[in-house]
Formats: sequence, structure tokens, C-alpha cells
Amino acid sequence: MGSTPPVFIGAEEVEKHLQRASLLLPALEAALANFSAGAAGGVVQPVRTVLPVPRHGGYLGVMPAYSAADDALTTKLVTFYEHLKDSSVPSHQATVLLFDPSNGTLKAVLDGSVITAERTAAVSAIATKLLMPAFAEVLCILGAGVQAYSHYDIFTELFTFKEVRIWNRTKERAVQFASAVSGPVRVCASAQEAVTGADVIVTVTMATTPILFGDWVKPGAHINAVGASRPDWRELDDELMKNSVLFVDSRDAALTESGDVILSGAEIFAELGEVLKGTKPALPEKTTVFKSLGMAVEDTVAAKFVYDAWSAGN
Ligand SMILES: NC(=O)c1ccc[n+]([C@@H]2O[C@H](COP(=O)([O-])OP(=O)(O)OC[C@H]3O[C@@H](n4cnc5c(N)ncnc54)[C@H](OP(=O)(O)O)[C@@H]3O)[C@@H](O)[C@H]2O)c1
Repeated sequence: MGSTPPVFIGAEEVEKHLQRASLLLPALEAALANFSAGAAGGVVQPVRTVLPVPRHGGYLGVMPAYSAADDALTTKLVTFYEHLKDSSVPSHQATVLLFDPSNGTLKAVLDGSVITAERTAAVSAIATKLLMPAFAEVLCILGAGVQAYSHYDIFTELFTFKEVRIWNRTKERAVQFASAVSGPVRVCASAQEAVTGADVIVTVTMATTPILFGDWVKPGAHINAVGASRPDWRELDDELMKNSVLFVDSRDAALTESGDVILSGAEIFAELGEVLKGTKPALPEKTTVFKSLGMAVEDTVAAKFVYDAWSAGN
């Protein structure tokens, strides 16, 4: 007598059940706060293991987590490749395994790409709600890939910007982005043009050297720095890192994985979860950077959300 085999929930089903990233906000806020509460918060999550695939310029990340509040146990397996020869293959591909925490049985295998895109954008939105200046009018996105779209969707759903700007290394993809999304977007010829005067900036590129410079940034702006997830990769220059108040998702991860944090020597002010718990202030009147690396527990709560919605429909 074997146990019930795990269900497979593919990308389309995940998208259907997740609906909108904003639906994840309450669970993600709780998970971030629980993570920053240490052992009392009931989140068990090591810094991820990242295995390089040097021959092909790729990486395999293994991201396990257990959340007591959700009673959910998952691990995400994510690959990311810097220089793909075949551009029809996404640079990031992910799978989430969801287990029954009471006995270790594998219950579901979920496509992790949509989960990654949506939960990352939702966490940036949480940071932005807390850290952006009052009366923010201009949103600037640097990059035009998967994360640019998920960030655009939740940012324009939750906030009211008068203007949205985009810059991308390959201009055609920025033009394509502007014609694909639901509202008006100004395509800028340079990153500097896009950033100048912006109140909220999102960096979502695979850059390995800085694309955003402190010189260009309006005092009081808020930056969500989402790319540069290796210890020797950068998106932000030293000036911006050192002259901003720096928030991270996980201190341990930032000091292990983030080139922007490690190489600039910038001091970490707080984890986002500490702000959510009220143990650290948000300081929205200052120039703020949220350095996002993405945490396994974010995938745990998102995968549980999808699995519960899928189960309710079956
Ligand atoms: N923090 C988190 O939780 C989290 C989660 C997932 C992903 N990420 C990170 O977010 C970033 C974007 O991911 P994605 O899935 O959107 O990737 P994607 O779909 O492959 O898009 C990559 C974007 O980066 C641009 N780019 C690539 N190399 C560049 C360079 N050297 N300089 C400037 N721009 C460059 C690309 O421009 P072209 O159009 O010119 O190629 C494209 O706009 C990645 O760094 C990824 O690792 C973070």
C-alpha cells in the first residue's frame, strides 16, 4: 500500500489560483515579522545553498523553510543563468516541493516561476508601503524582464503614481513592456533620465556592476534593489548604499549573498520584519534602500496559498 502520489500544479494552475500578488500581502507580512522574531517566530530557514555550474554560467539554489504559523514545509529549487544562449529559456526557473509537515510526505510539486515573480514583487510592495516618501508621484523601473512586469502590476494596483518610467539595457524590450502593460509608461533613453526625480525606484536587472548611482537619486526616494543576488554582483554604487538607510529581508543572507551590501560595507539598519513588528522605525523621510534577496519562507507561504486554493477547488 503506497501513499497518495504528490499532485503537480503547473504554471497556469498556479497563476489561476494565485490571481494577484496582493492577495499574498497579509501572509507575507506575517512571515517577514515571524522571521525577524527569531526562534519565537517559528520560522526555520537557513541561508540558501547556491551551487555554481561554472561550465555554463549558471547556479542552482536550494531554499528550504518551515513556518509554524502556517504549519507549512517547503523547499524551492531555483536555477538562474547569467548568459543564456537560448533566449526562449527564462533566466530563472523554479520548482517548489510542498510536504505534509506532520509526517514528511511530499504532497505537491508546484511550478515556482510565478510564485517567485509574485512573492518578490509583493515583498517589494510591503517595503515600499513602509518606506516610500509621502506624496510619491513618480515610479521608475530599471529592467524589463519577468520581475519588471510583476512589480509594475502590484505597484500600480496598490499605489497611485502620476508617472511610471522604464529603462532597459535593450530598449526594444522596454518599448515592448510599455505597450504590453495596462497603463501609460514613459520609456527612457538612459537609466539616469529614468531615475532623475523619481520617488520610488525598482532595480530588477541581471546586472553585475552598478546601474544606479547615488548621484542621480532624489533625496528621500525609496529604492527596491531586487537584482544582484551574488556576493560579487552589484546594481547600486557605494555612494547610494552608504548614504541611504539600508533595510534587508534577512541580515544573515545580505551579509552572505549581496554584493551591494558586502562590497560597499554599508551598515544594515533593520530587517523589514523588525519594522513590521514595530521594533525598528521605518524612516520614510530619509533616502531608503530595501535590498531584497528573497527568502524561502516567502515561497512557503505563497505555495501554501496556492495549494490551499487548488485543494478547495478539487
Ligand atoms: N530578490 C528576490 O527575491 C529575487 C527573486 C527573483 C529574481 N530576482 C532577481 O531579479 C533580477 C531580475 O530577474 P528577472 O526574472 O526579471 O530576470 P529576466 O526576466 O531575465 O530579466 C533580466 C533583466 O535584466 C536586464 N539585464 C541583464 N543583464 C544586464 C546588465 N548587465 N545590465 C543591465 N541590465 C541587464 C535584462 O535586460 P535585456 O532585456 O537587455 O536583456 C532584463 O531587463 C535578477 O537579478 C534576479 O536574480 C530577485
